Formats: sequence, C-alpha cells, structure tokens
Amino acid sequence: MTTGEPGRKPPGPPVLHLLVCGSPLARDAHKLVRSALSEGWDVWAVASPDGAKFLDIPAVESITGHAVRTRYRHPSESGDLPLADVVAVVPASCNTVNKWAAGICDTLVLGLLAESLGRGLPIVAAPYTNWAHAAHPAFAESVAKLREWGVCVLYGDDFYRFHEPGRGYLTQHLFPWQRVWEEVASRRAVTCPP
Ligand SMILES: Cc1cc2nc3c(=O)[nH]c(=O)nc-3n(C[C@H](O)[C@H](O)[C@H](O)COP(=O)(O)O)c2cc1C
Repeated sequence: MTTGEPGRKPPGPPVLHLLVCGSPLARDAHKLVRSALSEGWDVWAVASPDGAKFLDIPAVESITGHAVRTRYRHPSESGDLPLADVVAVVPASCNTVNKWAAGICDTLVLGLLAESLGRGLPIVAAPYTNWAHAAHPAFAESVAKLREWGVCVLYGDDFYRFHEPGRGYLTQHLFPWQRVWEEVASRRAVTCPP
C-alpha cells in the first residue's frame, strides 16, 4: 500500500495521507488539504467507498495533483502511495474507528491505518458523528485503545461537541479544521525536523 521504510524517506516535501470516511463532513475536507498545500505539503487523499459518496473527488484531485484512491488496487495494478510523514483520518467514522481498533482492514483506508500504526507513523484522527452514535460503549473503548497505541484522537467536548442525530448540518461549519491542521503540522515538526 505504501512504499519506503521508516527513516529512509527520500528528501522532498512532507507527505500527508488524508483518509476520509463516510460522513457529510467529508465535503469540507478540502479545508485541510488547502492548509497543508499552502505550507508546502504533498497531500495524498484516500476515501473509503462510503467516504467517496461525500468527498468532492474531482476538486481534491485538482488541487492535490493526485488521484484519490478509494479501494485496494487490483493485484495486477501498480500505484502504491509514497510513505507518509503524517497520517490524518478526518472525518473518522465510528465504523472505521471501531474496525481500526479491532484490527480489521476491509477498506483501503483501514489498511493504511493499520499499516501506519504498525510503522509507528504519527496519526491524527478526528472522529465525527452525532452524540448518540458516539455513545455506543464500543466507541469509547476504541478511542481509548487508539490513544493508548499513540494515536492523537481529537475527541471530546473541548475539541468539538457532537450534534443531535440528524442535525449535523446545523453545526458542521463549526468543525475546527484549523485545530486539526495544527495537530498535523506539529507532528511533522516532532518526527521530521528540518
Ligand atoms: C447521510 C449519512 C450521513 C452519515 N454520517 C455519519 C457520520 O457523520 N459519522 C459516522 O460515523 N457515520 C456516518 N454515517 C454512517 C457511515 O457512512 C457508515 O457507517 C459507513 O459504513 C462508514 O463507512 P467507512 O467507515 O468505511 O467510511 C452516515 C451515513 C449516511 C448515509
């Protein structure tokens, strides 16, 4: 899925893998893409099949200059992604958070998350859903596991207060994309000093 070994990344701009799940917030993912591009990052976006229903793929491909992958490649196809400096999964669906914590890899997004965790890459995850969905006990357990494994999970009322079911359209514009970007950028500073 990715090429290169940790510590052997070729010189060049920092690489961000932006992984996008199935949520209306995916429509705003260009905000993070633009922040990263404006500071010289090379951004590779990957959407889950459900994320692809929300993400504006032509727009993201146009500004990043890279095709947006949505599925594992066919074994006969080439096209691995470059090794990331930082991985961001935003919006992270409850489905992907729970499956990631359980080690399931049945989408390309989950495969990249599993591999990135295994490599010890810095990962910033911002779950997004309504409060009732997030109240399922499995979700809190998954978040706790991911944090224990070193993932920066931006979750809690101090980050963003989840909406009422069916009312996300009222508050989605308040999602703190700038805060997500600051977390991503700060992790590059730690792991890839200039
Ligand atoms: C209109 C719509 C909005 C949704 N919004 C969310 C959401 O904000 N957060 C979430 O976790 N799931 C949401 N879902 C459910 C996910 O899309 C669903 O669980 C899907 O399987 C996630 O797949 P993925 O984790 O591979 O992206 C929504 C579904 C629909 C149809």
